[in-house]
Amino acid sequence: MFRNSEINWGLISKALHWIGALMILTLLAHGWWMTHMVARPERLTNYTWHSALGFDLLVLMVLRILWRWMNPAPALPGDLKPWERMAVHLGHLGLYVLIIVVSLAGWVTANTMRTPVTKDLFGFDFPVIVSGVERSVRSLFEESHMILAYVLAALILGHVLAALRHHFVKKNDVLRRMI
Ligand code: HEM
Ligand code: HEM
Repeated sequence: MFRNSEINWGLISKALHWIGALMILTLLAHGWWMTHMVARPERLTNYTWHSALGFDLLVLMVLRILWRWMNPAPALPGDLKPWERMAVHLGHLGLYVLIIVVSLAGWVTANTMRTPVTKDLFGFDFPVIVSGVERSVRSLFEESHMILAYVLAALILGHVLAALRHHFVKKNDVLRRMI
């Protein structure tokens, strides 16, 4: 029930997938909102909250990757073509890599604020991994975090469309077994 089986995702994998998805969609929407709609003086509070949620996402991702490593994924439907199998593996790997890289770029951006942001939602302190960088380097961190976050958003859109294709076009249980 808790672990994955040959044909089904276990409860823990499902929880990690959906809690992670919720956190990431929140970070994307809130990240966009706080940098475009919020008046300057109120931004810092929002950057702090966004970063706190981001630190906790990183913790969740470490747990998720460890769990994935100890629990092989259920087999894909037998009728997938070789290019579809390749797309599944590359797509999922891309999601994992981008989530981690976007978060690390966010972490260094948060560290280079006038007062470095280091706390997660529960008040735990995360280390400052960069400090004393020039303005141009800070802009590079910020820019990378932004661009990669939107690349991640595009990949997520493709992921959701692929899941819906399995359900409505190919009519297999790929979506059902993740729910
Ligand atoms: C921020 C949003 C999301 C992210 C980052 C994400 C990420 C991932 C990743 C990395 C996997 C691969 C799991 C593994 O093999 O270890 C996965 C599987 C899956 N996701 Fe998502 N996901 C998101 C949202 C969604 C949504 C909205 C849906 C449904 C419409 C969905 C449907 C699925 C399904 C069905 C699988 C299982 C595929 C299989 O059984 O091989 N995901 N997701
Ligand atoms: C997958 C995880 C994350 C996503 C999807 C995400 C998404 C975003 C987005 C969309 C923006 C707005 C970019 C713009 O349009 O200007 C943003 C900004 C920001 N994010 Fe994240 N973020 C994530 C993780 C993190 C983490 C882990 C931290 C810090 C620990 C962080 C810190 C920041 C900061 C400080 C800004 C403001 C940058 C600026 O000065 O403009 N983010 N994020």
